[in-house]
Amino acid sequence: MAPAQTLNYLSQENTLESSFVRDEDERPKVAYNNFSNDIPVISLAGIEDVVGGRRIEICNNIVEACENWGIFQIVDHGVDRDLISEMTRFAKGFFDLPPEEKLRFDMSGGKKGGFNVSSHLQGEAVKDWREIMIYSSYPISERDYSMWPNKPEGWRKVTEQYSEKLMGLSCKLLEVLSEAMGLEKEAVTKACVDMDQKLVVNFYPKCPQPDLTLGLKRHTDPGTITLLLQDQVGGLQATRDDGNTWITVQPIEGAFVVNLGDHGHYLSNGRFKNADHQAVVNSNYSRLSIATFQNPAPDATVYPLKIKEGEKSIMEEPITFAEMYRRKMSKDLEIARMKKLAK
Ligand code: SIN
Ligand code: FE2
Repeated sequence: MAPAQTLNYLSQENTLESSFVRDEDERPKVAYNNFSNDIPVISLAGIEDVVGGRRIEICNNIVEACENWGIFQIVDHGVDRDLISEMTRFAKGFFDLPPEEKLRFDMSGGKKGGFNVSSHLQGEAVKDWREIMIYSSYPISERDYSMWPNKPEGWRKVTEQYSEKLMGLSCKLLEVLSEAMGLEKEAVTKACVDMDQKLVVNFYPKCPQPDLTLGLKRHTDPGTITLLLQDQVGGLQATRDDGNTWITVQPIEGAFVVNLGDHGHYLSNGRFKNADHQAVVNSNYSRLSIATFQNPAPDATVYPLKIKEGEKSIMEEPITFAEMYRRKMSKDLEIARMKKLAK
């Protein structure tokens, strides 16, 4: 891709290139800064307490949020504020680099991580208005450090620390979900076999016509759980229970937005929601978010861990996570193809 084609360059134009223009039904319905407080905000202070402490109350709040929303925010989560601000500062610095520096980490050509513009990764017809930097951070044996930028200098080390902390925090949350299903604490992490983690740093430049496009189209995350750090600009949207009313999640400094993914949904036999969400952009500010995806190993089995008496499994058969992902992607592409034909 020619350096001139990075989005930072395109954002200086007055009109949007047609490849970014979404069909009317997909365009944003609610402004990036029209914030809602509907999504639960849960303090984790005391989650380590033993009997008599706040643990039970926190667990109940998490479980309720997973059942009703599949998306919630956590504060007092124990990840150091300085680490969060360092991670954010370095990430911003990376996207400010000249295109040729970023493109040194171009992930096209089968690389496991690196820099990319938009979402042609999945061969989609309409592009997302975002640039990304992907780190395959776990399992450690899969790390390709040659694709981990060390510019701004020091970012690589901070990314390692950040990814480790978020792995720990995610496992804590998965323990709560395991217990809520009446299983041993490690049940969900064991079902992931060798847990995989990807950090995706999203940079959404200012956009000349934000009403016509999306930073990231509507989707559910495929994995078990996602922890998203966002800046104060706003742009993450989720749906209210009817699935058609969008709300913009209120940014909270230092909080993580937690999303249940498809794998988490299937393991719980549909009890925990896999939240639909999307990211909208705006013409005033660029926006940064860092998503930490906790996924099962590709060959881990996807099937409900426990099926209550009188209930049926929401899955016809056990499949591998790789197969679940393949089916999800081909369904998405088929929907896009049908839409195109219907035009
Ligand atoms: C994501 O869904 O991965 C990112 C959403 C956001 O940037 O707000
Ligand atoms: Fe997502």
